[in-house]
Amino acid sequence: MERLVDRLGRPIRDLRISVTDRCNFRCVYCMPKEVFGRDYPFLPRAELLTFEEIERVARTFAGLGVEKIRITGGEPLLRRDLETLLEMLAAIPGVDLTLTTNGALLARKAQALKDAGLDRITVSLDSLDDETFRAMNDVDFPVERVLAGIDAALAAGLAPVKVNVVVKRGVNEDAILPMARAFRGTGVVLRFIEYMDVGHTNGWRLDDVVPAREIVAAIDAEHPLEPVEAQYRGEVANRWRYRDGSGEIGVIASVTQPFCGDCTRARLSAEGKLHTCLFATTGHDLRALVRGGVSDAQLAEAIAGIWAVRDDRYSELRTAETADLPKVEMSYIGG
Ligand SMILES: C[S@@+](CC[C@H](N)C(=O)[O-])C[C@H]1O[C@@H](n2cnc3c(N)ncnc32)[C@H](O)[C@@H]1O
Ligand code: SF4
Repeated sequence: MERLVDRLGRPIRDLRISVTDRCNFRCVYCMPKEVFGRDYPFLPRAELLTFEEIERVARTFAGLGVEKIRITGGEPLLRRDLETLLEMLAAIPGVDLTLTTNGALLARKAQALKDAGLDRITVSLDSLDDETFRAMNDVDFPVERVLAGIDAALAAGLAPVKVNVVVKRGVNEDAILPMARAFRGTGVVLRFIEYMDVGHTNGWRLDDVVPAREIVAAIDAEHPLEPVEAQYRGEVANRWRYRDGSGEIGVIASVTQPFCGDCTRARLSAEGKLHTCLFATTGHDLRALVRGGVSDAQLAEAIAGIWAVRDDRYSELRTAETADLPKVEMSYIGG
């Protein structure tokens, strides 16, 4: 098979699948309560892709070159019987299966996720300070329960466990060093993420972004770091290792050092829309194709056709003005 690349020569390697647009948190930078309140029109169940539909689409992507699938949301652990879906996806040959969660339900689910075939896991945690964390998730969720989830993931062997930390100026900058201190030497890999202008509800301003180089400099001053070579094209995080051998961290600088040139990611929303960029305004309706009765070959041809004309590079074109353009919400597309 000829290798599938887009207009900028980028292959398709990763697929992120959102399994729900709902969440039990209301992180201020993602699902602000004023917008995602009681009346928010979340997707009705019939609109969601079924497990069989997700598996079929994922298998088709794997046939086109996808090697890594990440399950996300909303909060993916809220999707009922998620383990069943994981078992189905784990059976696709040659695919590394991972998941991103807020960790709220992880302590009791980690072992079942591992048993279902999940290879690795990423847990989001923005501060170790209980008060700051409760304010950021905005549902008063305590930090210890997420830490218990991380421990359960380690115990279940979902390694390496990664922890995503979104850094927002004036909100949790002071969490950077305590996080680095707490996780050095534990095998957990911290990944600091620049606060991004996804969606249009989080009131993003460039001033709120703490640049990755500032994060690295702060940690390096206390625990000297050195850069790690990227392992593969399209790797999202810039990786740094502690010079004393106590592990590594990553920084995801999508605002200050955009990496569109290497972006190999496709995103599937919970209702089956294919987005070729996190910042895309519209998606391609794969559910209509699947429910319309296309053959496997036709589905593969349709996806390949969408990828072949892809030329998105939003982050490289971003300016203060483009932040106001309509985009999909992070909780819908899953980051
Ligand atoms: C949308 S969440 C979905 C999965 C799960 N609910 C979680 O929080 O891990 C995926 C990742 O996106 C990050 N995220 C959400 N909004 C963001 C923003 N505005 N800028 C940067 N990262 C963001 C979250 O912190 C999380 O690590
Ligand atoms: S970042 Fe994750 S946990 Fe927080 S509101 Fe968004 S989807 Fe929910």
